[in-house]
Amino acid sequence: MRSIIPLLLILISLQYCNYAGNKSGLHWFLDMHDNLAVESQEEDLTTIFFNHNNQPVKGSDVLESQTGPGSTMRVPPEGSIPINYTPYLYDPSDFDTPAKELKNPLKPTKQILELGQKQYNIFCSICHGYQGKGDGPLSPRISAIPALVGEKSNVLDWEDGRFYHIITVGRARMKAYAAQLTPEERWAIIHYIRLLQNTK
Ligand code: HEC
Repeated sequence: MRSIIPLLLILISLQYCNYAGNKSGLHWFLDMHDNLAVESQEEDLTTIFFNHNNQPVKGSDVLESQTGPGSTMRVPPEGSIPINYTPYLYDPSDFDTPAKELKNPLKPTKQILELGQKQYNIFCSICHGYQGKGDGPLSPRISAIPALVGEKSNVLDWEDGRFYHIITVGRARMKAYAAQLTPEERWAIIHYIRLLQNTK
């Protein structure tokens, strides 16, 4: 009889084991499971505030939520930076400071030039032309697209940082390409433009 009790205990505890691992068995201490923190995608009642018409409005006295009442998404604290995002703090109209301060971190290796060529052909050649002569397929529709190569070009003496700035923030009729091109791709394009400029 005495040996049956441990055996029973073992059998009972084995009930909670399973191979699939998707059953958590019996829960003894529920307070360990119900976390006070609001889970993502869960409704957060603390951001709901009801007005006198019983309409939910964004809470005025609670933390700001990003997507309206009940949302768990918080407005990020001022000055916070998303992971893997490098802020670009230069004033778009100021070309001189980035021209002075920004240096091309890449070496013009074969690999980098190939990357630059690929991205240039995708994003720039439509206007500036495959050889950078300002004669891309869109040139009949957009007047006076500047050439990036040749004696008439204004950009032969441009510093790398000045190119980086115009690609990142754009200027006048040329849009910014910061959303389409990573910093590495922008610097690679600049090396490729140098190659086009030096190819007679
Ligand atoms: C939709 C057409 C278009 C595309 C695409 C385009 N550009 Fe431009 N780009 C222009 C125009 C137009 C200007 C003249 C802007 C102005 O009036 O200030 C310009 C100006 C420039 C200048 C300054 C030229 C000068 O003489 O002052 C550079 C450098 C330049 N672009 C590089 C690029 C690069 C690199 C890309 C690709 C990432 C690119 N552009 C994509 C239309 C385009």
